[in-house]
Formats: sequence, C-alpha cells, structure tokens
Amino acid sequence: MSNSYLDLLAYFGIGGAHPGGFSLTLEIFENEKIQPHHHVLDIGCGTGQTAAFLAKNFGCKVTAIDVNQIMIEKAKKRFENDGLEIDVILGDVQNMNIADHTFDFIISESVISFTNIDKTLHELSRVLKEDGSMIMIEMTAEQILSEKLQRKVSKLYGIDKVLNEKEWVLRLEQNGFQKIRKISTPSILVPSDIEEMDISENISIDFYDLWEEHIHFIEQYGHLIKYRVLECQHAAGT
Ligand SMILES: C[S@@+](CC[C@H](N)C(=O)[O-])C[C@H]1O[C@@H](n2cnc3c(N)ncnc32)[C@H](O)[C@@H]1O
Repeated sequence: MSNSYLDLLAYFGIGGAHPGGFSLTLEIFENEKIQPHHHVLDIGCGTGQTAAFLAKNFGCKVTAIDVNQIMIEKAKKRFENDGLEIDVILGDVQNMNIADHTFDFIISESVISFTNIDKTLHELSRVLKEDGSMIMIEMTAEQILSEKLQRKVSKLYGIDKVLNEKEWVLRLEQNGFQKIRKISTPSILVPSDIEEMDISENISIDFYDLWEEHIHFIEQYGHLIKYRVLECQHAAGT
C-alpha cells in the first residue's frame, strides 16, 4: 500500500530518517557488542546509512531490507560507492523469504509502526537466532491520545495507531521477545537536523507541503508523541 510520508522520505533520500537521527544511531551502537562474525539485519533500511555504518564499524555481515524501490536504489548506490558488500533485499519485512534463525542482531529504526505490528514482530522473532537480540526505535505515545489525534497521525504517517511504552512491551512479549530493556536516550521527538539527503529529480510540490505538515505536527504534538529505544532478546534464549 502506498504511503505518501514514506514516499517523501524516499524522494528526498533522507538519511537517519528516524527520531533522533543518525546521531542517535551512533549513540546506541557505542555500547553494542557486535562481532565481525555476526549477521545483522537492518529492516526498513531506507537509504542504507545505518547498514553501511554497521558494516564499516563492526566488519559484520549485513543484510538490508526495504519495501520502497527508491530507497533500495539509493541504498545500493551508497553501498557500491563505499565498496561494501551488503545483501540488499527489496521486500516486505512482514513476510521475508529468509530462513528461520538467520540473524544474530536486528536493528529497526522507525519502521515497525508503519507496518502491521504483530505480523512484523512475529516475523522478526522467526528470523532472529535464539540467542539473538534486537534494538528498535519507535514512535511512542506519552499518554492516551485522543481519537482525533490518532486519526491525524494515521492520516499524516499512514500508521494504524501510536502505541505507548507498555503496549510496545506487551506486543514484543506476545510475539516472541523477552528481557525487554529501555535504552535511555533523550526521548523528545524533535525534528532532527537533517544531516544527509540524496534528492530525486522532479519531486512534486505536494511532497514539500507534506514535509511542512510533518514539521508543524511535531512542533505541535512533540510533547505527546516521543519515542523509545527498546532492546530485547529472543524468547527462546536463556
Ligand atoms: C521512517 S523510514 C526509516 C528509514 C531508516 N530506517 C532510517 O532510519 O533512515 C521507514 C522505512 O521503513 C520502510 N518500510 C515501511 N514498511 C516496510 C515494510 N513493510 N517492509 C520493509 N520496509 C518497510 C520504508 O520504506 C522506509 O524506508
């Protein structure tokens, strides 16, 4: 199903297109012990900024998947330019053609909310090794949002519902994850400084208007919708 907000991110080729931006990514991976023999999956990889960083920084094997063709083209271009051998998949994270228990680590930066959450989490626990772990950055409601606001979010971002922290934890537990830990970070959903863009030609003016709407939304509701960084393990792990 098409999603105008995600199309916008693809046309503008925004790197670090998640709350906190790429600087949050760097902060998260300061403390992660990813080994060169690990196989890492970056879901909804966008233009591949994080996937490239992981391959370069940890020397690990990386697979990057995204459902958006433009994102995948931009990611491939980046990996080629950087001389990185990253497996790139144009596909849907809700239903991946990947064997069970393939990955040691999964990173998801502002992706799961845009999908059927249960389907995606279930699929991620399927492809994660039993001793594997996952980190996700997700938009999170700070309080019960009015129906009107939930509708506004759905319309702007094409998502079903903004979950609160308790709901995220419950969904993770229901779909095969355990030992859920909140990684503490500044949680304010400010429009992050865009550090990187890879802009397509001839972008419709409608997408500039949509970007304005996004910035305005965050200014107005950023105190009600922030984000969490959650780390979790496969439920079958010890
Ligand atoms: C907000 S962007 C984040 C991109 C990237 N993770 C980043 O932080 O820059 C969400 C990404 O998830 C991708 N995406 C959304 N639904 C997806 C799905 N069902 N399967 C795979 N990718 C998906 C979008 O195409 C988009 O690239």
